[in-house]
Amino acid sequence: MEVRQEVPADVSAIYSVNEQAFGRPDEANLVDKLRTNNKITLSLVAEENGRIVGHVLFSPMTLETETGSYPIIGLGPVAVLPEMQRLGIGSRLIEAGLDLLKERGETAVIVLGHSDYYPRFGFVRASQFGIQSSYDVPDEAFMALELQEGSLNGRAGVVYYQPEFDGV
Ligand SMILES: CC(C)(COP(=O)(O)OP(=O)(O)OC[C@H]1O[C@@H](n2cnc3c(N)ncnc32)[C@H](O)[C@@H]1OP(=O)(O)O)[C@@H](O)C(=O)NCCC(=O)NCCS
Repeated sequence: MEVRQEVPADVSAIYSVNEQAFGRPDEANLVDKLRTNNKITLSLVAEENGRIVGHVLFSPMTLETETGSYPIIGLGPVAVLPEMQRLGIGSRLIEAGLDLLKERGETAVIVLGHSDYYPRFGFVRASQFGIQSSYDVPDEAFMALELQEGSLNGRAGVVYYQPEFDGV
């Protein structure tokens, strides 16, 4: 299985993977909207025998603090075809994405998701850094990861998603 950046020919397969994984079109439509609006930081696909079986998206978000506003990266959606789940594909995609973002010098990543899944990649509750979501979400599901040690020190504040996320 190969993990690589998306190319234009992958667009419809990425839509399909998201729609099947979530059992609804909302996340697939979100990915398309972010792409159209040039708001994708990184989009990776997992390809096996020429077939796209998984996808992860990272997009720009804003962390508003008392001292100013800072760019931060949002992880999600992440999707693996139902029949291919629990084989490590999601983990490979997330780890590859986090490695690339770290190499690029990005400082931190935010995720809203299963509180028993993301800690394995180093995510902790964002509230530990004094960081909240602009959306009303369960504390344990809103998590943050420093890509550079100490990058979230003194960055207590509120994370704002791109408006494309509204309602998803
Ligand atoms: C979540 C998802 C991306 C994980 O990808 P994956 O390739 O199945 O995951 P991996 O094989 O790397 O990791 C497996 C682990 O994922 C966790 N996991 C997978 N699906 C889960 C779910 N629905 N709820 C909670 N944990 C889940 C399990 O803890 C599992 O750990 P285990 O192997 O120790 O039991 C995939 O299951 C998926 O597409 N789910 C539907 C869409 C979704 O919910 N996306 C995430 C939104 S936050």
